[in-house]
Amino acid sequence: MKVGIIGSGGREHALCEAISKSKKISKIYCFPGNAGTQKTAENINIDIDNFETLKDFVISQNIELIIVGPEKPLVEGIVDFFEKNNILIFGPNKFASQLEGSKIFTKKICEKYKIPTAKFGIFEKIDEAKLFVKDKKFPLVVKADGLASGKGVYICENKEIAEKAIEEIFNGKFGQAKNILLEEFLEGEEMSYFIISDGKNVKKFQTAQDHKRVSEGDVGKNTGGMGAYSPSRLINNDLDKKILDKIIFPTLDALKDMNCEYKGFLYAGLMIVKNEPYLIEYNVRMGDPECQTILPKLKTDLLEVILGCAKKKLDEIKIEWHDKNSLCIVLCSKGYPDKYQKNILINNLDKIILSSNQKIYHAGTKNENNNILSNGGRVLNFVNLSNSFKEARDNNIQMINKINWPEGFYRKDIGHKVIKE
Ligand code: AMP
Ligand code: GLY
Repeated sequence: MKVGIIGSGGREHALCEAISKSKKISKIYCFPGNAGTQKTAENINIDIDNFETLKDFVISQNIELIIVGPEKPLVEGIVDFFEKNNILIFGPNKFASQLEGSKIFTKKICEKYKIPTAKFGIFEKIDEAKLFVKDKKFPLVVKADGLASGKGVYICENKEIAEKAIEEIFNGKFGQAKNILLEEFLEGEEMSYFIISDGKNVKKFQTAQDHKRVSEGDVGKNTGGMGAYSPSRLINNDLDKKILDKIIFPTLDALKDMNCEYKGFLYAGLMIVKNEPYLIEYNVRMGDPECQTILPKLKTDLLEVILGCAKKKLDEIKIEWHDKNSLCIVLCSKGYPDKYQKNILINNLDKIILSSNQKIYHAGTKNENNNILSNGGRVLNFVNLSNSFKEARDNNIQMINKINWPEGFYRKDIGHKVIKE
């Protein structure tokens, strides 16, 4: 079978590698991919925003299944487009993707279906929003409605900061803003919770904890994710049941009530407060770096799982996992998440011999004349499976030291909440 994977990050390299192990696979194409995906797939440098060109290529190569990594094409309706052209594609359609594409869409579902989430208000006018924050308790969370690459969220410590955030959003910092979301700040610990669904059946797809802040001790700017560990230390049977019964199932029921079936990965960003889950946000895809952290634990053929979804037979697939802890550290370009340089040579990658419990997934890399050059803020993902999170982290750090890339930096404290020093 020929499969196409859309995206170019660490998540897509992990998807690509997992799919490449399937007995069913004959060829993988990655649109546009990176220096890592090139090892198991053919990278095709095509504009993924142009669905028409993508479709022409897919048809010309007889690609039978498309797997979508990032949110943007999903939110823009790539699934509807390919389905209309009778091409098998894995991911939620445009309507369902509003769960990530519009925070207000999700909040309204939460309200109607009594899904636990932070208390909120939606405002269409700048003056009304400012009036609302006047006598509120701080911190207060101010959010732009649409996709903002993780940047449209402000945790505001006082009224002045909240007013500035409101102004920035209404002035179009994240695109034209018709409205704004103001939210109560939830004090707790975050957890990423994943399921996979074929529209009818739902299966759990592990938990993880991301580390979004750039610096050790969870301080500094927000990033796409500096590292993760799986499973989250917070998960237990009671909490798991609450997440499914109070959050996941009511959300899927809400979509069904709107004549929409959810197909694909669904990622709930949760705040856990005293063993009670609250929904912070939905993402309609796997997380990055959670995907890189979770997939090495998967025993079952990922392609079988995805095909099971496409055929609405997920109930017939048993998803099995290695009983190991996984920890991922992201090596970034110095300066990230602000300005950083690109095109810097990364030596020594070929000196690392990986055991079956180790992975290096590329993210912002490219291959020029057999040289690996940096090409983004998050550059490489180091993953280790082990019985102990500490050992997994130590092994990752050893691998990063072997690469010895002077232009990179990483957090040495990934998993600090679960690793007792
Ligand atoms: P989001 O893009 O909605 O995931 O928000 C980015 C980050 O802001 C989250 O990962 C949380 O760390 C934080 N955050 C968002 N909403 C809240 C909230 N209501 N209470 C506390 N922290 C929040
Ligand atoms: N790890 C955060 C995200 O994928 O959105």
